Amino acid sequence: MPLTRRRFLRLTGLAGVAGVLSACSRSPSASTADSNTVGAGGGTFSQPDRVMSSNGRLEITLRAEANQVPWGSSQRYAYTYNGTSPGPTLQVRPGDQLVVHLHNGLDVDTNLHTHGLHVSPMGDGDNVFVPVPPGGSRTYRYDIPSDHRSGLFWYHPHAHGHVAKQVAAGLAGSIIVVDGIDEIPALLGSTERIWVLSDPVIGEDDGVLAVSAMDQMFGRQGDTITVNGIAQPEIVAEAGTVERWRFVNASPSRYYRLSLDSHQLHVIATDGGRLPAPVAVDELLLSPGERSEVLVIPAARGTHRLRTLRYDRGGMGMGGMMGGDSVVDPEALVALVTVNGDRPPASLPESVVDPRSVSLPSPSGSRVIELGMGMGGGMMGGRGGMMSFTIDGQTFDPDRTDIAAGLGTVEEWEIRNTSPMDHPFHLHVWPFLLLDAPPSHRGWKDTVNIPAGSSVRIVVPFFEIPGRSVYHCHILDHEDLGMMGVIDVAA
Ligand code: C2O
Ligand code: CU
Ligand code: CU
Repeated sequence: MPLTRRRFLRLTGLAGVAGVLSACSRSPSASTADSNTVGAGGGTFSQPDRVMSSNGRLEITLRAEANQVPWGSSQRYAYTYNGTSPGPTLQVRPGDQLVVHLHNGLDVDTNLHTHGLHVSPMGDGDNVFVPVPPGGSRTYRYDIPSDHRSGLFWYHPHAHGHVAKQVAAGLAGSIIVVDGIDEIPALLGSTERIWVLSDPVIGEDDGVLAVSAMDQMFGRQGDTITVNGIAQPEIVAEAGTVERWRFVNASPSRYYRLSLDSHQLHVIATDGGRLPAPVAVDELLLSPGERSEVLVIPAARGTHRLRTLRYDRGGMGMGGMMGGDSVVDPEALVALVTVNGDRPPASLPESVVDPRSVSLPSPSGSRVIELGMGMGGGMMGGRGGMMSFTIDGQTFDPDRTDIAAGLGTVEEWEIRNTSPMDHPFHLHVWPFLLLDAPPSHRGWKDTVNIPAGSSVRIVVPFFEIPGRSVYHCHILDHEDLGMMGVIDVAA
């Protein structure tokens, strides 16, 4: 049986280390969550409502509040945008203006971030430094450049210290930028499905949102994987057709390693852009915040499992003291795909490529960024003794500028993870390319996993858009604990 984090804590509790772990005990909701997950599966795949821009503009009001949402034949507690989790899908085109009136119906600060969009972080743009207080409102205006790449992006709260809880509770939604590439016959004829992957804790009231200090250090997880808020949905696909699946990992901490029985996934896009050519893979790893777009050619009749496979994302590096000491995201069923019909499988469309695709600009400067973890004073002794999560040895300070970069320049960054745990690195506003990337990752990215004890090199062009924004670990508890830095791009 895989050692999940909750199970690990339970086992170590039983093994009598409870004293050491007293400050880190599981949330009281965890056991109810385990039992409530049974019997909630089996829904039909469905997607959030989609609202589309017209005449160059999409204006919408999003109200963040606590609510009950449907759960099988009953209900569960969640945070919602306009009553649903995920919130509505916002569809825009390059050159559009997206206007969002955010109302905060929660009892703490929230705000809004458009993850992956290449838009201004200043003023009333994608400005994550400004919180919206309880009962307050803020209007965001996002001017989407006329040469913005098409793709799947997403929105979620970004009020420092509250992000993990609010996203875990259900505050997330998709943003789609469409352009001419989406209108080629091969894609127009396909069945497009958006998959917002989350793992809420299931329960009746806000008790489900309680977490321990240990949960925060590992990164909080729920026990139930949902797709667009539905557990283990079923898709019915016809042989002879093409399925176009667009995944976003909207979980605060869980990694998904997706694999579909008897089928390959043909990756056509990464976070923020098309690949030079489709790449067939047997499995696809999505760390928190990452997106991927794949084509699936339904071939074998019958019912197939889309699973997430076991992924070990490392631990606290405390070796013997903590016993098992590693967070393993266990294998789990994500969805069922039933293929009907007798038509021969469709052929894979080849022309799904952005003609502007990916040519690597050559960097004019370089820097090293170090992701680290250390003991933050005292051994696990309650909140004061939390482990610290740092970038270049420091925790987040909104008033400090950690990186000053020149508008119009291109930099090569080496992101080193000196800690014993994986961290997904995310940069706002300015998408990047990976050096040394496998073919399935050679598109524009804004989030990349940096495995424990290793490093990844990226190339970041600071084109078109100046401003002050952030980069951080997308295990959202780590971000809230301060694993975030400030970047200022100026002419
Ligand atoms: Cu999806 Cu700064 O985050
Ligand atoms: Cu972001
Ligand atoms: Cu992290």
